[in-house]
Amino acid sequence: MIISPSVLSSDFGNLQRDTEMLHHSTADWLHIDVMDGVFVPNISFGFPVLEAIRKHTTKTLDVHLMIANPDQYIDAFQKAGADILTVHYEACTHLHRTVSAIKEKGMKVGVALNPHTSIELLRPLIQELDLVLIMSVNPGFGGQKFIGSSIKKVRDLAKMIDEESAKTVIEVDGGVNIETGKLLAEAGANALVAGSFVFNSSNPSETISALKAL
Ligand code: DX5
Ligand code: ZN
Repeated sequence: MIISPSVLSSDFGNLQRDTEMLHHSTADWLHIDVMDGVFVPNISFGFPVLEAIRKHTTKTLDVHLMIANPDQYIDAFQKAGADILTVHYEACTHLHRTVSAIKEKGMKVGVALNPHTSIELLRPLIQELDLVLIMSVNPGFGGQKFIGSSIKKVRDLAKMIDEESAKTVIEVDGGVNIETGKLLAEAGANALVAGSFVFNSSNPSETISALKAL
């Protein structure tokens, strides 16, 4: 299981400390949530913070854009250090164009689906996608309750990826803990994002290892 702890739940006053903790943990990726106050009703952080994180880890930066018009910023995210760039299906009118532009910049590409968005919408381009991010909460905030129907969505997506002979990674984001993580692993998830569950625990590094063992 790939584990991608969400930096959104870290202590921004101690960003270097928390980034170094993640760097030395068994985490595979660092999940970076960028929110613009337009696509989602919250604002998180942008390029300077991403650049600061990049300075303190060589691990894969898994950047989740919850922004309108992501096409406008693809180049800037690549320059700031993103390795995987995930855009929302709901934010892209010309999704195939956006996906191609991200790949042209040498990054891996992901597409995120809000809880109400059907996986079938991605069937026509699933072979082009390195990753699909299933949102198991409505995006915008850490610490929300896991939406149970996401389990079936992951199972259906795993089936679709198999049917289409694709190699797409299934990542799940929102309300992930040991219990929901176990169900997601059984359903076919390959990567789990966890924010509050990791950073609110007494030993974040051990919590990451416990998720990794799922
Ligand atoms: C929510 C973000 C998540 C968030 C997850 O909009 O995309 O990545 O940090 O936080 P938890 O794990 O606390 O639900
Ligand atoms: Zn996220």
